[in-house]
Amino acid sequence: MAKDKAKTKTEMKPQVEGKEWWVDSKGKRIDGRSVTDLRDITIKAGVLPNADGSCYLEWGQNKVLVSVHGPRECLPKHQANPYKATVRYNYRMATFSVTERKNPRPGRREVEISKVSGEALERAIFLEKFPNTAIDIFVEVLDANAGTRIACLTAAAVAVADAGIPMRDLVTGITVGRAEGNAIIDLNKHEEDAPDAVDMAVAFLPNSKEVVLLQMDGEMTSKEFENLMEMAADNASKVYELQKAALKESVLSKSPEQIPGMDEVTDTGAPRMEAMSEEEQEMLKPRDPMAFHGHEFEEETKIEPKPAKKGKKDPKKADETIDEDSGEDYSDMERDAYDGGKE
Ligand code: CDP
Repeated sequence: MAKDKAKTKTEMKPQVEGKEWWVDSKGKRIDGRSVTDLRDITIKAGVLPNADGSCYLEWGQNKVLVSVHGPRECLPKHQANPYKATVRYNYRMATFSVTERKNPRPGRREVEISKVSGEALERAIFLEKFPNTAIDIFVEVLDANAGTRIACLTAAAVAVADAGIPMRDLVTGITVGRAEGNAIIDLNKHEEDAPDAVDMAVAFLPNSKEVVLLQMDGEMTSKEFENLMEMAADNASKVYELQKAALKESVLSKSPEQIPGMDEVTDTGAPRMEAMSEEEQEMLKPRDPMAFHGHEFEEETKIEPKPAKKGKKDPKKADETIDEDSGEDYSDMERDAYDGGKE
């Protein structure tokens, strides 16, 4: 958990003697943080047993829940990609997540956030390992106070990892910006609404520092931009540590059979033979590639029972296979047509 104590919305005092303020003369913000302090962050992975992976995250007043399903069959089929998995990221705000009732119908903002966040995660996942499948990521904002897209993306990366989906890196998000002329990190709603506000959402692959999401509201100089990007990169590592800790805790609290793939590998990463079927074990045995394994092509020859005489119903066979007019039995013919006569 981040050390900084964030105050709830009700504790904030954005006005002194009727005048609004954002950063005081001592560099303190209205919730008591310094300009480089993050709000409190709590991350918990593996909170939904019905999901393949999940994460609950609190970031200051923001509370978000993510559920990951897949890779699974991609329906409708026209969304499937024969070369890689399709990531479907659904960001939604609960009607009760903001002070005024939020319309439950997904608006343009939610569609946009879903698109850019899904694309950011695509950069981290080994999609090409799962052609024709879908990875569904459902994100619910339960309570909101600025920076929800970043809180959600950070939680979604943890949930995808919790699902055991192979990733080249996590995705770690952070917001940086400006209020009353001060460069600040992790803006709250009051700061996002400052008259000179700049609000920039950034997400990195934390190990390579590759930027996978960058969105900005407001105007600033290129010097300010460089400074804010540096602040973002420096502070994202704090969030990354919390993501790793949450995943570690989740893995340690699970039994091996609850961790995708763990019951099938040994400590060294080699496949565990006992967990495999006899057929799979046979396939793994070393063999001479030049040898001819004739027995693999042998087929059992079965003597077909004689078909019932024309016109006479065989009581053992289903009525619908016998033609009412000709009395002909179609059951064998149907079987031959569908599976080449094999039982
Ligand atoms: O949440 P984020 O900063 O990523 O996105 P935003 O579009 O900049 O929204 C900023 C904040 O406005 C949200 O976090 C909510 O607190 C608030 N909001 C709201 O009150 N009602 C909405 N329909 C949408 C957002």
